[in-house]
Amino acid sequence: MRVGILTGGGDCPGLNAVIRAVVRKIHNAGGECVGVLEGWRGMVQNLTCPLDVNYTDGIIAMGGTILGSSRTNPYKHPEHVRQVVENFRKNAFDALVAIGGEDTLGVAHKLHSQEGLPLVGVPKTIDNDLSATDFTFGFDTAINIVMEAVDRLRTTAESHRRIIVVETMGRHAGWIACLSGMAVAADYILVPEVPINFDHLCQVLAERRAAGKKYSIVVVSEGAQFPDRGMIAKAAEVDAFGHVKLGGIGEVLAGMIEERLKVETRSVTLGHLQRGGSPSAYDRVLSTRFGIKAAELVLAGDFGKMAALRGNDIVAVSLAEAVNDTKRLDLRYMEEAQEWFLGAYQVPRVE
Ligand code: F6P
Repeated sequence: MRVGILTGGGDCPGLNAVIRAVVRKIHNAGGECVGVLEGWRGMVQNLTCPLDVNYTDGIIAMGGTILGSSRTNPYKHPEHVRQVVENFRKNAFDALVAIGGEDTLGVAHKLHSQEGLPLVGVPKTIDNDLSATDFTFGFDTAINIVMEAVDRLRTTAESHRRIIVVETMGRHAGWIACLSGMAVAADYILVPEVPINFDHLCQVLAERRAAGKKYSIVVVSEGAQFPDRGMIAKAAEVDAFGHVKLGGIGEVLAGMIEERLKVETRSVTLGHLQRGGSPSAYDRVLSTRFGIKAAELVLAGDFGKMAALRGNDIVAVSLAEAVNDTKRLDLRYMEEAQEWFLGAYQVPRVE
């Protein structure tokens, strides 16, 4: 049994823990693993490296991915798909484990359903926006990083009597902003799922100030938008999967708030800090469990599946189901978070 492993898309803490777990489980069953470098680019260009138990020993605590990553999409060019299939055969793989988000797993799903390749997926993304799993690994670490950063920002905001707008990642889903916002007791949270009500935001901030609170923290997701404007992007170009580079809403909002309220306002964009460093304990455990499940699926010949978390159980779901839809924020979290800024101000709740 010879198993290829690749990591694709934006990196996140926990990738190495998955790799370690797959390698160990396959090794214990008498098989061997091979690393495919830089996501799908490695399958197109045949970039591989040896992977064994020794090499993966101790990597559980390391952020990033020892295999490298890319946003390469082989389906952009039909000859790249042929090269992937060819390199799969050349490497004498019996299976390939693809660790990635919606895009990487979307490619895995097509390669399995259209080319018949024996593929298994593992759900990775700080955005937590993958269907069919309650949580992805990387998300917990990301919200802890935001929490730590905002705890620090709070002291400087208070000293200077400022408003600080913190922009988080998350693309079209508000999971990071909402859950980290709850964890830091943000005074206002803005997510892509709920259009920005700028008047209400300013009303809350002004009333807070009038009540004697000299500073405020606003957490905004990079994908949050005004009802009459699209999302704010850093550049017009899109990546190989058609995504724009989001970012800039925090700065725009800070300028608008300062102008309206005449209160000194700053913005901080946490950006790739949210994807860096060592995984949290929760993510190390989740990644390890996902890796073991993925290896079990490989050993059982149960392909076209993804390891997923349902409640406390690690289960197998079809890749088709996993890439079917973007999992937007469960608005029940927002309802709970809003007790602190909607409840007191009598404005309509989120529908
Ligand atoms: O999908 C993960 C993510 O970090 C998003 O939250 C963010 O919009 C995007 O990737 C950033 O991508 P890149 O690393 O290519 O700038």
